Amino acid sequence: MSLRTCPRFVTLEGGEGAGKSTVLDALVARLRATGAEVVATREPGGTPLAEQIRDLLLDPRHEPPAAETELLLMFAARAQHVRETVLPALERGAWVVSDRFTDASYAYQGAARGGDAGFIAELERRVVGIEPGLTLLLDVPVAIGLERARRRGGVDRIESEQDAFFERVRAGYRARAEAQPRRFRVIDATLPAAEVAAEALRHLQRQIGMAA
Ligand SMILES: Nc1ncnc2c1ncn2[C@@H]1O[C@H](COP(=O)(O)OP(=O)(O)OP(=O)(O)O)[C@@H](O)[C@H]1O
Ligand SMILES: [Mg+2]
Repeated sequence: MSLRTCPRFVTLEGGEGAGKSTVLDALVARLRATGAEVVATREPGGTPLAEQIRDLLLDPRHEPPAAETELLLMFAARAQHVRETVLPALERGAWVVSDRFTDASYAYQGAARGGDAGFIAELERRVVGIEPGLTLLLDVPVAIGLERARRRGGVDRIESEQDAFFERVRAGYRARAEAQPRRFRVIDATLPAAEVAAEALRHLQRQIGMAA
């Protein structure tokens, strides 16, 4: 059983403050300008129930979830997101642009938190079943990303991890991008926001051609 690749499904990945939300806005605007229907969404979250799971996951007030709890809650939210938001949109011909998706679990719950990649892959196959046609990895040194995110304010539970955790996140993402070069494009996110967006739009343009 393998994953179904969805050409009109585009995901943005990267660590804290890499610029995902900034690039997402540019991609959505470009797609809407073509007249296409576009659903902009995010993980964890993307449906009312999944957003509540997000709140549980990121709330620093209760005891920290065990690594297994975090992993399963992420996939519980993702299961709901795929069925309620992503698949219905793709089935009616819309584009879906998501701020994070399954790759984030390989990076955070896998590489950084020490979760078993084989188990994550099993969850991906059995619970998710699809993968994006294009994934843009915004790669930025940890210190720069954290500085941007912290300047923006409001640090959540995962954002308050140690630097070593985020170094493992970054390495995890880069390893995945190297292993799946057809789907991933890595963008140097230390560049000015306008240049990052321009490069992201060039990759999107090629994907629009392929999905036509
Ligand atoms: N290329 C860039 N250069 C400098 N600053 C940037 C760049 N891209 C985004 N920023 C700024 O950095 C901050 C974080 O950007 P953004 O919210 O898009 O990142 P993010 O990856 O979505 O972060 P998070 O993981 O916290 O959601 C924002 O204040 C944004 O304006
Ligand atoms: Mg963001």
